[in-house]
Amino acid sequence: MGAAKQLAVVTGASSGIGRATAIELSRDLPVIAVARRAAALQRVSREAPGEVTPLCADLTTEAGLAAIVDTVGDDGVRYLAHAAGVYPVESVHTLDVQTWRAAMATNVDARLFLTQRLADRFVPGARVLFIGSLSAHTARKGGMAYCTSKAASFMLQQCLRLELAGQGVLFANTYPGFVDTALMHGAIEADRGVLPDAAKYAAAAAEGKLVAPAMVGRFYRWLFSGTSDEAFNRDDWKVLDPAHHAHWTGGESLYSGRA
Ligand SMILES: NC(=O)c1ccc[n+]([C@@H]2O[C@H](COP(=O)([O-])OP(=O)(O)OC[C@H]3O[C@@H](n4cnc5c(N)ncnc54)[C@H](OP(=O)(O)O)[C@@H]3O)[C@@H](O)[C@H]2O)c1
Repeated sequence: MGAAKQLAVVTGASSGIGRATAIELSRDLPVIAVARRAAALQRVSREAPGEVTPLCADLTTEAGLAAIVDTVGDDGVRYLAHAAGVYPVESVHTLDVQTWRAAMATNVDARLFLTQRLADRFVPGARVLFIGSLSAHTARKGGMAYCTSKAASFMLQQCLRLELAGQGVLFANTYPGFVDTALMHGAIEADRGVLPDAAKYAAAAAEGKLVAPAMVGRFYRWLFSGTSDEAFNRDDWKVLDPAHHAHWTGGESLYSGRA
């Protein structure tokens, strides 16, 4: 496609897993870091070892998607990481239409339509990473919007793999475990009467068993740049699987250790 250069696009790059992924990928390629909070993105850009272009965009809007496509311009997208996500906690009695739609818009629609809008910018062999969740396959009381949107995201990734296979675009779905991020702490602090699994999350935190976002970023860098096409293109990459740890942990603990 005669692209001037090849880029990575990372959504949800202002915090948590997306932030760590943008920082790690910048070691290999220029990164467009997408989220809504400008100041946080600027900090990511300053702290990253490589080139990170902060891009304020709401992924649930047409304007936000268009801004990403404009920023990519004539360059080629080699890596796309879908990290943006929200985890609303509501019971069936309190969940309102806006909250449900916002979860679906962020966790599902944005992944579909951003991939669609970038389809003609992907270089051959481009890699798209979905940050999935065991909540796609585990019903959680109080987590209806999150679990349903994550299940939809899982299927979406499988369908997109079929849709774009002819173009040589590869898709991976990953499970980052319980990660020490704002989203996780929001769930930990939720009313346990509404979200009983908040107790499981809190127990992992108390045991120092929340995965450090920086380690997830390293895992994803290795997935993007250190795996064969055949290996990358699968649905069940788990950060906690020791089979691949020798490739990217550097012998360091996966856990942030913060209670
Ligand atoms: N933490 C875990 O234990 C865990 C486990 C499994 C899966 N995951 C998944 O990992 C992904 C990242 O989550 P995290 O834990 O790193 O959470 P986080 O720290 O809360 O990050 C969420 C990111 O999504 C961005 N975002 C939300 N809505 C957006 C929108 N409309 N437009 C653009 N950006 C938006 C936020 O940025 P702004 O607010 O600046 O827009 C933020 O950068 C999510 O998909 C989550 O479901 C997390």
